[in-house]
Amino acid sequence: MKAQVLYTGINQTVACDVGAVSVLDVSIENKIPHLHECGGNGKCSTCRIRILEGANNLNPKTNLEKEMSDKRRWDPSIRLACQCYVKGDIKIQRLIWSSAEVNKLQIEMTPEDKAEERPIAILFCDLRNFTRLSSVNGSFDMAYFLNRFYTSLGEPILMNNGIIYQYVGDEIVGVFGTSGGTRQKNCMDAIRAAQGMHYALERLNKMELKDFDVKLEMGIGINYGLAYVGHLGHPTHRQFSVIGDPVNVASRIQGMTKETGAKTLISKAVYQNANNETLVIGDNYSCLLSGKEERFDLFEVIGFKELDLQLELQDSLHILLQDEERFATIFYEKLFEVAPFARNLFRSNIREQGRLLTHMLGGIVYSLARPEYLVLGLKKLGQNHNRYGVKEAHYPIVKNVFLDTLPDVLGIMYKPSIREAWSQALDFVLDTMKEGANSLKEKS
Ligand code: HEM
Repeated sequence: MKAQVLYTGINQTVACDVGAVSVLDVSIENKIPHLHECGGNGKCSTCRIRILEGANNLNPKTNLEKEMSDKRRWDPSIRLACQCYVKGDIKIQRLIWSSAEVNKLQIEMTPEDKAEERPIAILFCDLRNFTRLSSVNGSFDMAYFLNRFYTSLGEPILMNNGIIYQYVGDEIVGVFGTSGGTRQKNCMDAIRAAQGMHYALERLNKMELKDFDVKLEMGIGINYGLAYVGHLGHPTHRQFSVIGDPVNVASRIQGMTKETGAKTLISKAVYQNANNETLVIGDNYSCLLSGKEERFDLFEVIGFKELDLQLELQDSLHILLQDEERFATIFYEKLFEVAPFARNLFRSNIREQGRLLTHMLGGIVYSLARPEYLVLGLKKLGQNHNRYGVKEAHYPIVKNVFLDTLPDVLGIMYKPSIREAWSQALDFVLDTMKEGANSLKEKS
């Protein structure tokens, strides 16, 4: 017997066998992009859907799903697509569209109407020369710049497990570790985000602002400590809030970047908790911060001593995803030239396939900041590829074609370190996929 699943976002109806498949399987089978970081194991919450019609045509919640929905206080219409099996017609809406949105979900895990003390890293970023830019440009252009600035510079925060806490004029504030993580990870995530933001600004200056006779600069200050995190405010308008002395100190540290000329300054707490032997540290300062009596030791971060895989991947991802179709066209043209037999393996059209591939690559780069789910997701992807007829010998071919596509797509932003980073990342991705595929073969 067959049932119908209607996806409202794309207004597409697909048929599936009753009882045999989960809603997530229906999406994968029909090439409908549907995030599932943990590979459909009920461990993450990214495949969540809203059931608009036919809630009774699904199985009751599994224990795993119940635990997740209780913890996150979901209303009953929200279900985990990997845990619900289709018994009759349903109408659904996928709720998480991009990997960036996954990071915002951390806010769900903060207390509702009180603030709890949690150890977090706080990043303040302030843009320089902005007043000059405002004085020579109209308000319409300024709104455009601000949006570009917020988007480009906010992305590295999201990619590194952070939350964009607020935008205040030409200032961006990010927080790291609101839903847990070790001290070292939270501090390193914040430092990597800061480096990514500097890369992003360089890109804005080189590409989008090149005709405006303005070179934007910025300073970033990072602190680590116990702050109050929660949803506070009037009962009808509660807002995610982060309050406490470490937040004020982070803002003051940012202020010191103007005086010292350092691009990124971190406090001693960040320096001590971070994996500091991997960092290139420039000058250090002992400073009096306004409103504080004691002196603070601050350290200038210049970069990473060795290639930081995640930073390089994050830096190039932005450009790869800018024009997904262009990336996919070049990649598949090259692939079919080197391996003509591969063409027959693909059932869907290449444009659709390209969208799924880039969607998945974006997910992988974001998930590197929380690798616990990534391995599960990749093993499942490997099992799927086994079913698509993909053999082990195909993996290195695809890897090399991907690496050869990078210079064509990245243009002037291409650098050998990006190739090296993708090479290492693809080794990890493909090896994990192979592991998944082999586990399936062993079972059968
Ligand atoms: C970096 C590694 C790879 C990634 C991230 C990736 C990603 C994807 C994704 C997301 C899909 C959609 C279906 C699903 O989610 O299961 C897919 C399908 C597919 N992939 Fe891959 N893939 C990779 C490597 C390969 C390799 C090495 C081949 C070998 C030629 C391959 C061939 C295919 C085929 C034939 C399909 C099914 C297409 C269809 O049914 O029309 N992929 N891939």
